[in-house]
Amino acid sequence: VAALRHMAMTQIVTSLDEFRETVRFDRSDPRILVPTMGALHDGHASLLKRGNELKGKSGFLIATIFVNPTQFGPSEDFDSYPRTFEEDLKICSDHGVDLVFAPSTEDMYPGEPSTSVHESSLSLGLCGGSRPGHFDGVCTIVLKLLMLTTPHIAIFGKKDYQQLAVIRRMVRDLNLPIDIQGGETVREKDGLALSSRNAYLSESLREQAPAIRRGLLEAQKLHAEGERDATTLRAAVRHLLADGAPDNRIDYLEVVDPDSLEPFGETGVGEQAVIAAAVFFGKTRLIDNIELGG
Ligand code: PAF
Repeated sequence: VAALRHMAMTQIVTSLDEFRETVRFDRSDPRILVPTMGALHDGHASLLKRGNELKGKSGFLIATIFVNPTQFGPSEDFDSYPRTFEEDLKICSDHGVDLVFAPSTEDMYPGEPSTSVHESSLSLGLCGGSRPGHFDGVCTIVLKLLMLTTPHIAIFGKKDYQQLAVIRRMVRDLNLPIDIQGGETVREKDGLALSSRNAYLSESLREQAPAIRRGLLEAQKLHAEGERDATTLRAAVRHLLADGAPDNRIDYLEVVDPDSLEPFGETGVGEQAVIAAAVFFGKTRLIDNIELGG
């Protein structure tokens, strides 16, 4: 890390004290934040690229790298979550990041916390249903990072569709003066959405995983042709998943309203909708989604 500190123009700060002592944003406008948990891949790189475009000549691009323990459940992969700090710094530096803030857990959680942010509507279903407390952890850390870095714009990937919606709601509800922007999902050639967790897949599971995308594309096609029955759309996804990925186990598969994230029921799917899925391949849980309607 010492050697990397001199890389290009990227400043690397790994403690809150150093952050408070050295970081001055006085004349940087606009300030753009890309919060991450590290293990950066091309999906993150595309968020950084967007941030770099948005910052223009006089702006300032900040990336945070922090594997946030409070958004992992007790039986989840916090300990084994990939940590690739040096490669991450290189990617940040290559993408015009002005400051990498990578605080310690002790800095971000100085004591056993008794305060957290709880979003009580959009976070109930989908990932929130199967990962209780996850979005409290996400909202709390994101609010802390927003307060510390005070960006004008913060960018989050659309692959975590629910996360983006929950953060937008938090920012609206708490009147935070920050523009939250969504970045498009980046995919492998075979359609698999890039994710730090793809690294956990065995060769055979990696071959099966793109079946999620094929299923979602088929459902999108049916919706474009006029299909408005949620069960039929879900069945199409299930069918292609069963076909291409015998070892999959669906955690959830829902057709939801893009804003409220409420599942569509008997009354039929709207013109605009999102299909969101979480699927286990072995122990690895992958998520993806697709927007329906233009
Ligand atoms: O999407 C992520 O990587 C994380 O959930 C985030 C937004 C950085 C909060 O820890």
